[in-house]
Amino acid sequence: MKTLQEYLSASHAPEDLGKIIMLIADQAGPIRSAFISNQNYAGSTNSSGEDQAEMDTWADARITSVLQKSGLVRAVASEEQEDIVQMSSSAKYSIVMDPLDGSSLIKVNLSVGTIVGIYEGDVLQAGNQLRAAFYMLYGPMTTLTISLGNGVSIFALNAEGTYILLKENVKIPEGTLCGSGGLRPEWTEKHIRYMNEIECEGGKNRYSGSFVADFHQILEYGGVYAYPATKKSASGKLRLVFEINPIGFLADQAGGAVSNGECSTLDIVPTKVHQRTPVYVGSKGMIAKIEAIR
Ligand code: AHG
Ligand code: MN
Ligand code: MN
Ligand code: MN
Repeated sequence: MKTLQEYLSASHAPEDLGKIIMLIADQAGPIRSAFISNQNYAGSTNSSGEDQAEMDTWADARITSVLQKSGLVRAVASEEQEDIVQMSSSAKYSIVMDPLDGSSLIKVNLSVGTIVGIYEGDVLQAGNQLRAAFYMLYGPMTTLTISLGNGVSIFALNAEGTYILLKENVKIPEGTLCGSGGLRPEWTEKHIRYMNEIECEGGKNRYSGSFVADFHQILEYGGVYAYPATKKSASGKLRLVFEINPIGFLADQAGGAVSNGECSTLDIVPTKVHQRTPVYVGSKGMIAKIEAIR
C-alpha cells in the first residue's frame, strides 16, 4: 500500500516540488468540507467573463494563501485571478491552477475537481515543459491523478487523510466514449462530421460539464473529451494554461494525446494567461481521427 508521499520519494521528486504537491493535495479535505456552506454564486465575474461560484473564489483564496505562506512558490496563475500572482522571487516553481473545475455542477452535487500544473521558472510556458501535473476529483471518492513525467498514477484519499495508491502506470485504452461541449447548432462542419463518425461507429456520448470528471472517464474507458471551436468562439471555451495543459500532459503521459484539432496543444507557448483553445483529448486513435478531417 503505497502513499502519495512514498510515491514522491520513490520518484525522486525534488524536496520543494514534493512539498508543494502535498500542500495542495492536503486542501482536498477543506475544499470538500466547504461545499456545504458555499452553494451559491458570489456575484462577481472572472477574467473569462464567467459568474464566479462561491466555491471558485473560496478554493482559489485557500490554495493561493497556502502557497503564499509556504515560501516555496515563485508565481501562481489561476483561472480566478486576472493577473499572475508573484510570490517568492527566489523560489524555483510556479503553479497554474483551476481551483474548482466544473463549478456549475456544485449546486447539483455532481463531481467537480481541482486542476494543477507545476513549472520550473515562469508560468507562461508550453505544456510540454510541465514538471508535474495533477488533478483532484471530488467524486464518491476523492482521487488524485498525477504525473511527474514518468507515467500516470491514481491515488485515493482514505478516512485518515492519507492518499493511497489505487492504480499505477495508467494507460488510456483505445475507446469510443465521447463527450463534447458547445451547442450543436454552433458546432463547425468539421466537428459535426467527427461526432457523427464516432456515434455511427457505436461511440457512446456522455458529457457532464466538468472537464476533470469527463476526462477521468476517458482515462479509464478510452475515447475523447472535446470542447471544440464553435461558430461563436473560434477558440472554444477552455483555457490553455490552467485546464488544457495539465490535463493534456496527463493524457500524453498515459499514452493518449491532446490536440486543438490540428496539432498538439502541448507545443503552444501561451502569450496570455487566460487564453483559450479548442481541445480534443483522449485515446491516440481518436485524436488522429479529428486531425485527419480537413
Ligand atoms: P470551470 O468550472 O472551471 O469554469 O470550467 C468549466 C469548463 C469545464 O469544466 C467543462 O467541461 C465546461 O466548461 C462546461 O461547459 P458547458 O457548461 O458549456 O458545457
Ligand atoms: Mn470558471
Ligand atoms: Mn475549469
Ligand atoms: Mn474553474
